[in-house]
Amino acid sequence: MHKIAVIPGDGTGPEVVAEGLKVLKAVSQKVGFRYEITTFDFGGERYLRTGETLPDSAIGELRQFDAIYLGAIGHPDVKPGILEKGILLKLRFSLDQYINLRPVKLYPGVWTPLRDKGPEDIDFVVVRENTEGLYAGAGGVLKRGSPDEVAIQESINTRKGVERCLRYAFQFCRQRNRKKTLTLCGKTNVLTYAFDLWERAFHEIGERDYPDIKRQYAHVDATCMWMVKNPEWFDVIVTDNMFGDIITDLGAIIQGGLGVAAGGNINPEGVSMFEPIGGSAPKYAGKGVINPMAAISACQMMLEVLGEKKAAQALEKAIIEVVSTKLKSMSAGKMGYSTSQVGDLVAEAVDRTEGESG
Ligand code: IPM
Ligand code: MN
Repeated sequence: MHKIAVIPGDGTGPEVVAEGLKVLKAVSQKVGFRYEITTFDFGGERYLRTGETLPDSAIGELRQFDAIYLGAIGHPDVKPGILEKGILLKLRFSLDQYINLRPVKLYPGVWTPLRDKGPEDIDFVVVRENTEGLYAGAGGVLKRGSPDEVAIQESINTRKGVERCLRYAFQFCRQRNRKKTLTLCGKTNVLTYAFDLWERAFHEIGERDYPDIKRQYAHVDATCMWMVKNPEWFDVIVTDNMFGDIITDLGAIIQGGLGVAAGGNINPEGVSMFEPIGGSAPKYAGKGVINPMAAISACQMMLEVLGEKKAAQALEKAIIEVVSTKLKSMSAGKMGYSTSQVGDLVAEAVDRTEGESG
């Protein structure tokens, strides 16, 4: 029995999570596994009502689950940073989800802005460090609002934090078993302290423990260029928190947009959290126009990590069928179907796949 915590969150979060859960139910019946869900109301509405973001007691509670399924965090009436830091980053940090795993995979029939590139060219995974770097919140401000204001924002990189991220990436690359190439994305020519540590650790660990994996290095600016020009060169990219944030929005757009891009916040030794990476999209909220496919893909990643490999495979097959043969576009309002109709289509496709029924 898998115990899943669900945080629908803000904006379009609840709508896409509802479709993910619809599909989860279909795939559980098809493949035959059991789960139970518990819903939590953390998000902007609760904050506006109570002044509370994520109480410390919730962390202890969430630790008892096998996985967390998250919609989106971010509310137009709340100052930027409060909910992001108070809920999303607090979850990632306090549950020590030190990997943010973001596949960039273009499915057949999905439009990409890259002319001349197809599904055979766009299929790589970004392993983003998820608990350190510029996100750690180190630094401070002096004389705020005055002409003498000083603002310092420091990037924290620990040997331990970098090493566990690199090891995960090497291991992941080995298991993925494709090009067996791991690219470190950094900025060794300017950030000479932080990426010196990353680069040394990368080669030391790689040479000693992962000799079967080819190592490659690219600066972050060049990585952006290659992702557009020759995305087929990449297999697995490992990078720090900030660069990982930036390059995965670029990754999302080349795989068809935020309507399809999903990610997992992974703690390999603890509880992991899965989310569509597109955010709360308040302008589309409540209209039934948002594409739930990213949330459905996040559900697929969750099944994978829960050990339901068969279910994850069946779901990916269903996702591919629907995006390739049914949806007119991946963009909100242009799919040719409503949010819940897209969920229905995937659930029906799951029903049609071969497999045991349970
Ligand atoms: C993401 C988001 C978050 C991040 C924000 C909402 C804090 O952009 O998951 O990529 O920067 O990590
Ligand atoms: Mn982001």
